[in-house]
Amino acid sequence: MEKKSYPSFSSRLGFIMVTAGAAVGLGNIWSFTYVVGSNGGGGFVLIYLLVLLFLATPIFMAELLLGRMGKASPPEALSKLQKQAGSKIPWAVPAWMGLISTIFILSFYAVIAGKVMGYGFEALFGGFGGWNGEQIADLNTSYNGNELLSAFWAGLFLALSVWIVGTGVRSGLERASKIMMPALFAMLLGLAIFAAIEGDFARGFDFLFGFRNVEFSAAIFLEALGLAFFTLSIGVGGIMVYGSYMGDDVSLPSATVWIVIMDLLVAILAGLAIFPLLFGAGLDAGVGPNLVFAAVPQAFAALPGGSVLAFIFFLLLTVAALTSAISLFTPTVQRLVENGWSRRKAAWSMFVPAFGLSILTTLSFGSWNDFYPLAFLGLDGLTFFDLIYKGTNNIVLPLGGLAFALIIGWGLQRDKVRAALSMKSDALFTIWYGLLKYIIPLAIIFLFVKTIWP
Ligand code: TRP
Repeated sequence: MEKKSYPSFSSRLGFIMVTAGAAVGLGNIWSFTYVVGSNGGGGFVLIYLLVLLFLATPIFMAELLLGRMGKASPPEALSKLQKQAGSKIPWAVPAWMGLISTIFILSFYAVIAGKVMGYGFEALFGGFGGWNGEQIADLNTSYNGNELLSAFWAGLFLALSVWIVGTGVRSGLERASKIMMPALFAMLLGLAIFAAIEGDFARGFDFLFGFRNVEFSAAIFLEALGLAFFTLSIGVGGIMVYGSYMGDDVSLPSATVWIVIMDLLVAILAGLAIFPLLFGAGLDAGVGPNLVFAAVPQAFAALPGGSVLAFIFFLLLTVAALTSAISLFTPTVQRLVENGWSRRKAAWSMFVPAFGLSILTTLSFGSWNDFYPLAFLGLDGLTFFDLIYKGTNNIVLPLGGLAFALIIGWGLQRDKVRAALSMKSDALFTIWYGLLKYIIPLAIIFLFVKTIWP
């Protein structure tokens, strides 16, 4: 086989849009509203904004940079950099941890994305238009109760992702998402406008931005940090792969800023659409992971042509979820391809454990919804889904981010980092570097320690 040179994105805009597609997904719409809702709203949003700006954004840039410097799958990229730096510490360890965690993330991601697809299917057959609140609630209950159906959709979502990763369809989907992402954005904007007129906008807005009841505990900060990392896709090496493909002419800091802004805008817009709808329907913000599925259909029920609009919405959300799921597959697939595997075989080999584990989440929403497997360890009230979700988001992602910060701040030479970054402003570089070297590691370690020993 002819050896091709390392692939890269041809244009700056192309790079930004595809990487934003990997970042924007269910996290911005489903997780953001569910986690903000469960944590009481405004105060949590404030903390989210703080950690997004000071911790997650610098790490996003660090992860892109490590990919650009290492140009290989995350474990290989980090080993290569380790050898160059002459360090004895195995830098690839956090990358391997990240790869393993992608399987766990995919396992619940597929169940939620599958439900989005299932709801789209319902809309295709005339669902949602003209429905009342009871019908919407019943659909949610019956969907969650039907574990076979839920597992079917989760499996289908994973199979679709595998197929896309294993074939050339991927670049086609990424091209399509350049249209579909703005379309999803427009649709969320439309929903927010509808919610402002018909829903309880005042209460929704106040819930999101009324910065009171701020509880500054370490556990809350860690939860906000996990959410920020999750919505930006950082901590597992997924973004590193995108950085490795990044053309050298693309400015890393400006790409970071654009992607973070888009990612944040989608989340805020989703919140502005969903909370007024939720309160307008007399529902509670603390309902948990079903929040989106309770709120969004309220709008389609009331709108003319609601079924068609619902179908378009769930379709666009499915595409957003697919482009994110792809970014969860690629670091591992890349690593296996380095071992001589085909992309297809590599992707299918991830399907098996991801689908197997997804059954645990399916059951957590169904008949095991009051089964708390680690109750004997004091983790009472947490289902398998809760454990997998919180374990990956609030523990693995921050640990991955911590490792990337330490590698940039302490492992690599400052001059090399400075040169690879191509950042014009010295002042900004000094701030970013200082954050990664001192503030971020201390903050993350402090949050872990304080959460364990409050
Ligand atoms: N950020 C994506 C979303 O918001 C999910 C995602 C994709 C992700 N790749 C990731 C989360 C890597 C953590 C790590 O839906």
